[in-house]
Formats: sequence, C-alpha cells, structure tokens
Amino acid sequence: MASGKKNNKDESKVKTEEKTEEKTEEKTIEKIFIGVDFGTSKIAMTTSSGKSILEQNVVGYPKDAISSKFLKKEVLYGAEALKHRVALNIHRPIECGVLKTNKEDLDAAKGLLEYCLNSLNLPDDAETYAILGVPAKASVLSKKILTEMTKDFFTGVMVASDPFCVAYELGLLENVMVVDIGAGTTDICRVRGTLPEPEDMTSFGKAGDYIDDSLIKSITSDYTSAMVTKEMAKRWKEEYGFVGEPSKDCEVDVPVDSSTIKLSIVQELKDACESIVPPIIEGITSLIATYDPDFREELRNNIIVSGGGSLIKNIDEFIEEELSIVGGGKVTVIKEDPFTAGSKGALKLAIDMPDDYWKKLI
Ligand SMILES: Nc1ncnc2c1ncn2[C@@H]1O[C@H](COP(=O)(O)OP(=O)(O)O)[C@@H](O)[C@H]1O
Ligand SMILES: [Mg+2]
Repeated sequence: MASGKKNNKDESKVKTEEKTEEKTEEKTIEKIFIGVDFGTSKIAMTTSSGKSILEQNVVGYPKDAISSKFLKKEVLYGAEALKHRVALNIHRPIECGVLKTNKEDLDAAKGLLEYCLNSLNLPDDAETYAILGVPAKASVLSKKILTEMTKDFFTGVMVASDPFCVAYELGLLENVMVVDIGAGTTDICRVRGTLPEPEDMTSFGKAGDYIDDSLIKSITSDYTSAMVTKEMAKRWKEEYGFVGEPSKDCEVDVPVDSSTIKLSIVQELKDACESIVPPIIEGITSLIATYDPDFREELRNNIIVSGGGSLIKNIDEFIEEELSIVGGGKVTVIKEDPFTAGSKGALKLAIDMPDDYWKKLI
C-alpha cells in the first residue's frame, strides 16, 4: 500500500515534470498576432499581447551634416520627424494609396515598420503573425512587394485591404459597404462574406489631403495676400470641417504679410469638404450596380464611413441625402476610434486565420 502510494507519488512527479516541460515548450514558442494599419498618414499596430502604437507614417533624413549633428540622428521616424521637418528630407512611403517602390522609400517604409515593432518590445523568441492592412489599391498593386518587404519581421504575413479590416473589426461581413476616407485616398469596399477581390473595391485620390489643398486654394484666391500652410489647413479642417448646413462660424487667424487677420472660412471649408462627396457617390453606386441584384438593397442600406474623414461633421447625413437622388441608402459613421479600427480588425483577422493558412506562408 505504502509502496503503491509511493509509486503513485512518483508517477505524479513524472507527470508534473512532463507538464512543466510542456509549459516551458509553450513559452518558447509564444505566438503573437499583430494587426497593422499602414495608411497614408498614420501607421497603427495592435498585438494579441495587448500592445499598441499609433505613429505618423513619415520618415526624415537630416538634410546635411549640420542637421545630422544637431539632431544627433541619421534617421527620424513619425511625429519626431514631423517636428523637425524643416531640417529633414521627408519621405512618406505611401502616396495616393500606393506604396512608393523606389529604393529610398522602400528603405524608409522598412525602417519605420522596424521602429514601430521595436517600440512594442515584443519578446525576441516569439513567433509573430501579422496582417498588414493597406489602402485598397496598394492591397492589389503592391501586395508582393509589401509581403517581401515585411517577411523578415514576421513569421507569417498577409496583406489585406484596410476597409475590409474595418468591416472585420465591426463584425459586419455580409452585404456591407465601407467608405474609408483617409489622407491620400478614399477607399470603398463591399464585403460579401469572403476576402474581397479587386472588383469589390474602388479607390480615388480625393480625401483628407485633397480637402486641405482645396481649402488653401480657395482662401488664397479670395485673399491674395493670405499665407496658408498645409498644416494650418489641416488643423482648421480637423477642428471645423463640415458638409451641409454649418452649425457654427469658423473664424481662424490667417497670416498676411507680417501680421494675421481673423477670417470666417465657413464657405471655403464647406466647398472643400463637400468636394470629395461626388466621387464617393459614384463609387458607391457603381459597386451597388455590379452587385448581385438580390442583395443590392441590403448593401445600399449598410454603408459605414470610416477613417479620419469620418470625423467631418454631418458626413453621414450628407452622403445619405446625395444618395437619395440615385436610389437611396442608409449611411452611418463608425462608432469606434476611426484611427485604430483598421489595425484592430487586422488583428482580429490574424487571430481568426486558420493555422494551416499561416503554415502555407512560412
Ligand atoms: N476631426 C477631423 N475632421 C476631419 N478630418 C480629420 C479629422 N481628424 C483627422 N482628419 C483627417 O483624416 C485624414 C487621416 O485619416 P486616416 O484614416 O488616419 O488616414 P490614412 O488611413 O490614409 O493614414 C487626414 O487627412 C486628417 O487630416
Ligand atoms: Mg486608413
């Protein structure tokens, strides 16, 4: 009996040791899933280990030996690069929704990804599986280059269209249309329960940056001595941007010669913000027209606006009004944070991808 007990004890000891070994093994092959939103203006990363980063998608190299000495760096990333932009040659790896493919810009993009990953402080020995959400056009045109460029950073990587990642985050996967208004492009993607094909997406270059440029043009043509920078226009748009009926006055300080004057820019802002709507209506209607007729009604009544441009006041109602002339539709603005929904959706998708899928990529 006693010896029997002892044996049992020994057995349980063996089992515990095995368990410990198993545990140790599990620890050494920790799997971390990462959702990345590689947008024109921002890069966002979210991991299954609960870490995240949101950074400007900008890289700066000192213009000369003096700036390099003063900044004490050979390369600056994100917000830091923007802060010192006058002393730097600035690179934005994604332009007009497409990854720039010259060596300098590719190196910049790679450096920025590495910088963001390093700031997440992930364990060196973890396996990392990433979904890279990019503008719709880049997901089709630059898929190979992006996969190649990032394969050194991750155990497995897959490229997906950002608006699809947004839909995935919202759990809206059937007969839904996402209108993602970013900085460089507006991407429209219809979701029909599968990964989208190129014909499910449309993209055009009228988005946040276009509004900023239009605003500068109209203010400087009304007031010829006004000096409006891109940063100012962006700031005013982000504070007051609206479409339709104005809810308040938009009075801003505009630099003229050596001083500033107060100007109301309500009409200029309205025109600039509304200028991106006609192509949105065109994109929506063409994606509806080429959809299965049985599901068109559901699709047109399930339109979600996301991206930084979704913060333009009244954008949902205005698109809805414009759509009413061409068959109608129901439009809502994303309720979640528009800047992180893409990376969160990409993370969710990475977690949900079957093991077999990742195995095929490795
Ligand atoms: N409150 C706001 N109102 C209007 N536009 C905004 C607001 N906040 C940010 N934006 C604009 O959204 C754009 C960035 O959106 P984002 O979805 O991050 O772009 P991307 O995915 O292209 O990096 C920029 O043009 C920015 O100025
Ligand atoms: Mg985006």
